[in-house]
Amino acid sequence: MKTIENDILKVLISEEELTKRVKEIADQIAQDYEDKDPLFVGVLRGSFMFFADLMRYCPIHSGLDFMAVSSYNNGTSSSGVVKINYDIRADLTGRNIILVEDILDSGNTLYNVSRHLMDRGAASVKLCVLLDKPARREKPIHPEYTGFTVPDEFVVGYGLDYADRYRNLPYIGILKPEIYE
Ligand code: IMP
Ligand code: MG
Repeated sequence: MKTIENDILKVLISEEELTKRVKEIADQIAQDYEDKDPLFVGVLRGSFMFFADLMRYCPIHSGLDFMAVSSYNNGTSSSGVVKINYDIRADLTGRNIILVEDILDSGNTLYNVSRHLMDRGAASVKLCVLLDKPARREKPIHPEYTGFTVPDEFVVGYGLDYADRYRNLPYIGILKPEIYE
């Protein structure tokens, strides 16, 4: 059968490693936010798988919502401009927000989205990213919760895409170079 697995050069983070680490982060958040009724905000679409796993392992009182933003045009590097395509409708005044994102790269996305949420009256915005790619940072951003630090390579899977593909891969992998050609 022709599957997405055929396009993967190597597995960077396995399913087991992902599950273990996501549970650890969920435990930490549960301790930190036990009485704070946080609002988990997932940045669509890359965070969807991480977001779902994180929430199922975090058994505290909380709410959830999503935002959709774009800064990429099917390529592999940031345009720097972040457009909010879908915003949260609920009142954010005084809410403690945990902003959940698949990967922190240049930092443009999370920098702009967290400022936007603070402008909307949130009491706090903390960042929870599955992957951190510090090599290409352009904005001063320090996430409170980080799953894994990754090298400066383009990764796919577990929500992360290349040209909107490979999001359904259950692990984080690196594509074969010919896929980009
Ligand atoms: P930033 O605004 O440059 O920090 O980029 C964040 C967004 O870029 C993420 O939400 C991803 O959609 C995308 N991105 C950055 N690096 C990668 C990667 O290695 N694989 C897939 N998407 C990436
Ligand atoms: Mg994304």
